[in-house]
Amino acid sequence: MKKYNLFTILLCCNFFTLSPLILSAQDARIVKRVDSVLRLMTLKEKIGQLNQYTGTEVTGPASDRKNTLLNDIRSGMVGSMLNVKGVKDTREIQAVALQSRLKIPLLFSLDVIHGYKTVFPVPLAEAASWNMDLIRQSAHISAKEASASGIHWTFAPMVDIARDPRWGRVMEGAGEDTYLGAQIAKARVYGFQGDRLGGIDGIMACAKHFAAYGAAFAGRDYNPVDMSEQMLHEVYLPPFKAAADAGVATFMNSFNTLNGVPATASVYLQRDILKGKWNYKGFVVSDWGSIREMIPWGYAGNLNEAAEFAMNAGSDMDMESSAYKQELEALIKAGKVKLSLLDDAVKRILYKKIELGLFDDPYKFSNVEREKQAMNDPQHALIARNVAEQSIILLKNEQHVLPIKGNQKIALIGPLVKAKADLASTWTVYADTASMTSVYEGLKHKFRNKSSISYAKGCDLNGNTTAGFEEAIQIAMASDLVIMVLGEAGDMSGEAKSRSNINLPGQQEALFDVVKATGKQVVVVVMGGRPLIFNHIAEKADAIIYAFWLGAEAGNALANVFSGEYNPSGKLPITFPRSVGQIPLFYNYLNTGRPVGNPKEIRYRSAYIDSPNSPQYAFGYGLSYTTFSYSDLKLSTKTLKKGEPLRVSIKLTNTGDVKGEEVVQLYLQDKVASLARPVKELKDFRKLMLNPGESQELTFTIGTDKLAFYKSGAGWITEPGVFKLMIGGSSDQTKLETEFTLQ
Ligand code: GLC
Repeated sequence: MKKYNLFTILLCCNFFTLSPLILSAQDARIVKRVDSVLRLMTLKEKIGQLNQYTGTEVTGPASDRKNTLLNDIRSGMVGSMLNVKGVKDTREIQAVALQSRLKIPLLFSLDVIHGYKTVFPVPLAEAASWNMDLIRQSAHISAKEASASGIHWTFAPMVDIARDPRWGRVMEGAGEDTYLGAQIAKARVYGFQGDRLGGIDGIMACAKHFAAYGAAFAGRDYNPVDMSEQMLHEVYLPPFKAAADAGVATFMNSFNTLNGVPATASVYLQRDILKGKWNYKGFVVSDWGSIREMIPWGYAGNLNEAAEFAMNAGSDMDMESSAYKQELEALIKAGKVKLSLLDDAVKRILYKKIELGLFDDPYKFSNVEREKQAMNDPQHALIARNVAEQSIILLKNEQHVLPIKGNQKIALIGPLVKAKADLASTWTVYADTASMTSVYEGLKHKFRNKSSISYAKGCDLNGNTTAGFEEAIQIAMASDLVIMVLGEAGDMSGEAKSRSNINLPGQQEALFDVVKATGKQVVVVVMGGRPLIFNHIAEKADAIIYAFWLGAEAGNALANVFSGEYNPSGKLPITFPRSVGQIPLFYNYLNTGRPVGNPKEIRYRSAYIDSPNSPQYAFGYGLSYTTFSYSDLKLSTKTLKKGEPLRVSIKLTNTGDVKGEEVVQLYLQDKVASLARPVKELKDFRKLMLNPGESQELTFTIGTDKLAFYKSGAGWITEPGVFKLMIGGSSDQTKLETEFTLQ
């Protein structure tokens, strides 16, 4: 019989049918290698792998901390460093680690949240694109640039569901919806890691913050979280499960307590659910100092107890508490922490180091030539512009004031017209914010041959002076069209940036009023890391664009939208309240026993006496320069057997005169169940481009899993009954509705 080599066999067979076998063979090889290293390690060296420190000083001038850190690294007492970046510095510190007895390489980690050198829109803005391919590309480019700079591991994606715009970290996530959040979690994990960890362009991702960090009381960062098991499993955990299923290399726990227990000490979260039920094989890093923070929480009496609780709860690596360094050896010797738990944590960490290829080549990601090439790839900026364009949401466009027609004289007014660093907001770790393209620069370039553009700042972002108003009025009077760029400062969202008031700061509303009083048409661009409240402007402006923070290409992306070169397609990933008093406000609410809208009961109903229940703008809302019609809703059956998939088809038509993209959203309501169910829940969506007059049939497949809900004591269940199906371009404007029965 003719001999075939393995390669030929693989070519003949369908490689992917073999891949699980190949992956498990690779897994077995790595496990074997991990075990061989573990057997050589002393107790101190094992504990050493669990320690992670920030390296901001480690490459700087001599200091006590620098010397301590370098000595610890040299003696194998450090497993990972964060905030060391660049080929030069990572090589230098890695070389110190390779002086240790076992030469175990370090993991270099960094918060590559929305780009490394190329600054992409903040994650909440990217979520508004509803474009999973683009979100994956964005993460892939971030990983390519970071890995070329010696980084092995990013602390992203942040997959915390957030329903409270007072919370500053809402900018880091995917907004309020569990289904959209889960899809984005997957896209970002694949983007950062590639199809398989270990490729030269991929870095370890990190699903954070586990768990329910976005539900902090009053939207105040680091505050307690208290919720039912059902709410936790139904709303907050699925994006983490999606990340785990996508193979996310690590998890990071969170600063909050969950029902009285700090997440970093939660056996329920980390051992029962993550490493137990989900059988998660990666490792968990504590958030910065969160192990030590059990003491101020009043949960641990001292660092020794904190280390014991964290280790027994499955927190594998200690970021910046020094709890394990100081206490773990004694805890092991006293039998308070089993050696098997320490070995498990060490094996999880060693596994990732070997999987990344660091044992074969500790300098694999530290190549000067590759770093130079990756940092200067023009393709990256083009993709960042595309992501930014697709993240822009058109909220209002009276009399089609946009796109800008003809050679109008344009007045640019507002404190964010020339902003650059603000466009990057927070969590930029390497960016040259001076190179960001401001709105002013973008429009000046785009309209250089068409329009005259004047500029006045009008007022500061904060502060009370109105001294700039007069200049703003003058240039408005001399223009055909005014574009105002307003919002909050880029550093008013992010970590520890909760706001009790989410209006536009300073005199911006007053500036709008005096400019609008000139009688000119006024387009308002609002920028921020969260939903902001600007109801008065919403009512009076002729057009409104929401841009969140669009990153390096903001000015060019907005210019393309103003010129009509790009027809805006963004949809809100989070509800915009009318007032802070409505918060938390989200689209998938329960109907209550006294819903608004019952004509027989207009007083004793679930409503405010001073505000509508409805939001200023709904989840999933966003306009286009064209219009779309929905028709021909068909179901494969009106009576569904359990386990049988439901096929849904509709026809979408572009009824306008320009091409455009629509995000078709499919919602379900379980009308009667053994738990009160939301009035609707997003279960699928599709974003597609249609030319003017073009129609396309879309089909969705709804599996039984999408009909399930979580019940304490029973887990995920489905119950027979009637389901309402709604399809449309916004959660509050479903165009097609029908019902079906699950048997
Ligand atoms: C911070 C954040 C976390 C980040 C970590 C490292 O406190 O909570 O998201 O990844 O520390 O910077």
